[in-house]
Amino acid sequence: MNAILIQKTTDFFEKTFGSKPERVVLSPGRINIIGEHIDYNDGYVLPAAIDKIICFAFEKSNSNTSKIIAIDLDDSFEIEMNSSMELTDNVWTNYIRGVIHQLKLKGFEFEGVNCVFSSNIPTGSGLSSSAALECGFLFGMNELFDLNIKPVDIALMGQSAEHWVGINCGIMDQFSSVMGKEDKVIKIDCRTLEYTYHDANFTDYSLILFDSNVKHSLMTSAYNERRQQCEEGIATIKKNFPKITSFRDCTENQVISLKDKMSKDVFKRSLFAVKEIKRVALACEALDNGDIPALGKLMFETHEGLSKDYEVSCAELDMIVDTLKKEEAVVGARLMGGGFGGCTINLIKKGEEERIKSQLAGLYFDTFGIELKIYDVKISNGTSLYTA
Ligand code: GLA
Repeated sequence: MNAILIQKTTDFFEKTFGSKPERVVLSPGRINIIGEHIDYNDGYVLPAAIDKIICFAFEKSNSNTSKIIAIDLDDSFEIEMNSSMELTDNVWTNYIRGVIHQLKLKGFEFEGVNCVFSSNIPTGSGLSSSAALECGFLFGMNELFDLNIKPVDIALMGQSAEHWVGINCGIMDQFSSVMGKEDKVIKIDCRTLEYTYHDANFTDYSLILFDSNVKHSLMTSAYNERRQQCEEGIATIKKNFPKITSFRDCTENQVISLKDKMSKDVFKRSLFAVKEIKRVALACEALDNGDIPALGKLMFETHEGLSKDYEVSCAELDMIVDTLKKEEAVVGARLMGGGFGGCTINLIKKGEEERIKSQLAGLYFDTFGIELKIYDVKISNGTSLYTA
């Protein structure tokens, strides 16, 4: 599938600019096994890059002007690299502007590029197409102009670009898009950015994504609000337990003891963060021991917490998880990513996948009149140069 995408992107480039691209970059989306909404709470996360990618074809334009073409959107824009970057109403262009802004802030020297890109990462599905866009574009700039930016710094600059666009995200998406490795999940310590790779071996179970095919608005503002509520929570904890500086050093009982000192929402968010940080440690152990049912159980618990305490689920995602919970063949399911729509990540007993898929799709359509989308994903490498 990716071979077709690469061909399409490079053909388009050659037709438009009359030359072969100097660099072709592949930048993936990501999944996250467990550890949701805790990358910005000093927690651990367990994501992986996937075989859904954005393909970029680049050349230097030999001027100060860049021309960027989004094939799938049938849209393009031109930008003067030495002008000051500003947000526009054309959202996809902002991610590119954000990256250029970061390069300038850090004092890198570069000129314009001609760039064409095309993607098979569904947008608005919680698979981090924006991280793939930021990191892939930045990777290409790094290669073309020999900027010597280290991979982890590409991820950090991608994250800053996303902040500039308006979502105060953590580091998980950009880190996994850049640092992903075939057949491995990455355990990232989001406090220190230390990371270890673990085998993504789900034994008798298949990893499948169900896309609710809905995207509820207010995602950005609700996301930023959650982050702020967590900051409030940790401030109250610090005030009462001065030795604690982060949710990860805090027990559930300590949070519970402060219930009257926090608003109801701040209390619920804080309790979720403390519990989720613990779940990731247990999930890693389960994965390393090949105990997939134990991992799955933790995923169901995460969903429950995201739905009831963190309140980032929606009727469609809850329906998918509630339905799957009743199936013996499904050992784990939960909403994945920021929430308010997008995908659930599910572990389904091998041999039962097709039955579960068709039953759920039918029921989902009958309930919401919306088509369920289904993705079988393969865990793959992070952002890289493509050589034919
Ligand atoms: C979005 C953000 C990430 C992370 C997840 C929730 O994908 O970009 O940083 O916070 O939501 O886990």
